[in-house]
Amino acid sequence: MKKIVVVDYGSQYTQLIARRLRELEVYSEVIHHTEDTSLEDVVGVILSGGPNSVTVEGAPDLPNWFQKVKVPVMGICYGMQLLVKNFGGKVDKTEAAEYGRTEIRTLKCSSIFENVPRNFNVWMSHGDSVVNIPENFDVLAETENNIPAALCSKDKRIWTLQFHPEVRHTEHGMDIIENFLFNICRAERSWTMEKFLEEKISEIRETVGDSKTILGLSGGVDSSVAAVLVHKAIGKRLINIFVDHGLLRLNEEQEVPNVFRDKLGLNLDVVHAKDRFLNRLQGVTEPEEKRKIIGKEFIRVFEKEAKRVGGEFLVQGTIYSDVIESAASGKETAKIKSHHNVGGLPEKMNLKIIEPLRYLFKDEVRKLGELLGIPHEILYRHPFPGPGLGIRIIGEITEEKLNILKEADAIFIRTLKEKGWYERIWQAFAVLLSSKSVGVVGDERAYDYVIALRAVNSVEGMTADWSKIPHEILDEISRRICNSVKGAGRVVYDITSKPPATIEWE
Ligand code: XMP
Repeated sequence: MKKIVVVDYGSQYTQLIARRLRELEVYSEVIHHTEDTSLEDVVGVILSGGPNSVTVEGAPDLPNWFQKVKVPVMGICYGMQLLVKNFGGKVDKTEAAEYGRTEIRTLKCSSIFENVPRNFNVWMSHGDSVVNIPENFDVLAETENNIPAALCSKDKRIWTLQFHPEVRHTEHGMDIIENFLFNICRAERSWTMEKFLEEKISEIRETVGDSKTILGLSGGVDSSVAAVLVHKAIGKRLINIFVDHGLLRLNEEQEVPNVFRDKLGLNLDVVHAKDRFLNRLQGVTEPEEKRKIIGKEFIRVFEKEAKRVGGEFLVQGTIYSDVIESAASGKETAKIKSHHNVGGLPEKMNLKIIEPLRYLFKDEVRKLGELLGIPHEILYRHPFPGPGLGIRIIGEITEEKLNILKEADAIFIRTLKEKGWYERIWQAFAVLLSSKSVGVVGDERAYDYVIALRAVNSVEGMTADWSKIPHEILDEISRRICNSVKGAGRVVYDITSKPPATIEWE
């Protein structure tokens, strides 16, 4: 299959380049700049951006196979500067470092800017700039500061962009990538999710061989897609483990096995560990302590199960946003919550990790899930945290509170679905406050729990805004909860964004 090679110089946007190529149905492979590649079937090469400066000794250089390349090459940001330096031009630190939105103007017609206006805004992120262009190169576009924004060699083989066409903030970025692929490289549209699936399946088969592998299935989008994908590759030799820790949403402990075992035919073991978890959590009110107990207990249960079923591999539903997030969370980052480590299994388990979704973005994972026949309700379900309802009951967790919260949460979600609001919201759930509030039911004084409703719109949960659910719908939810959930006496709506608040209450 014809392909584009994307050479990675460490930019946070490298996988985004690959993703844009997939959107245009072009097959690509991302390789590290020190990695070797056969140039067979390669119709174009893209050099990514990166955090280094080509002016510094020892900065990453062109791949050692670069001299053999006869096909078109496009260098983006660091990739551009590297090409300029190697073709005899000069890059240097200039006063005019450019970050963020910048207007550029094209200076002449060229196939890379076909169907793109003369002036448009692009996303820049560079401290160094091209100060001398190489001989036999033309400037195709420049910024307001007269810094070259795009160059092309006179033989029309080497193309360079100082800005990032792969980033949404760059106007016409997709047109530029499309021009490079189809006008310049003559790439073909051959990448489809079906092909990706086929390839992943044979890759997993090859990796796992005759061994067994395990997977912790939560019923969330990512672990569900990973489970069905690996099941398709190796069948019952994938053993899925679903831990019912008692902190799941209403009826989830029945629904997950029902879908995955009975409908989709997966090999699924359910571990009933509710009592174990609730006993350990008895009397605990501190959020961090609750998280730690749930996390530790989860690992203990999982380790025991893994030992019981055996297996050489562990499948994880890591997706690309998790990869970026963990790369971004440096040591200095303040610990807001001991997050995402629930289900993060210890290295000493000695299992080899398989992450088949590692380079896919969430919407691509959903698309793959659709292709695998996973029901819509699972693929478009709101995210649910590992510690589950344990962090949605403020203070001590008891069975009574759990039952109240499950009922209230189910009513909230059901009503949102009925009113067509569920898929307009990124995440919605109910929280139970342990302080009680006075009410009047009939002629009697009531003293019941407060239910807080939380609904947010977000992209991947890093920041969030509270959802503007119409008052009539909130009214209906509140009445339904108060009328039918015994023990819930008052309903409030959380109107705080993140930051300053977090999405979960604990
Ligand atoms: P916060 O509350 O930090 O949540 O704004 C952001 C997103 O992360 C989810 N979340 C978790 N997910 N384990 C998880 O797997 C956790 O411990 C955890 N804590 C929060 C939260 O539901 C939201 O989607």
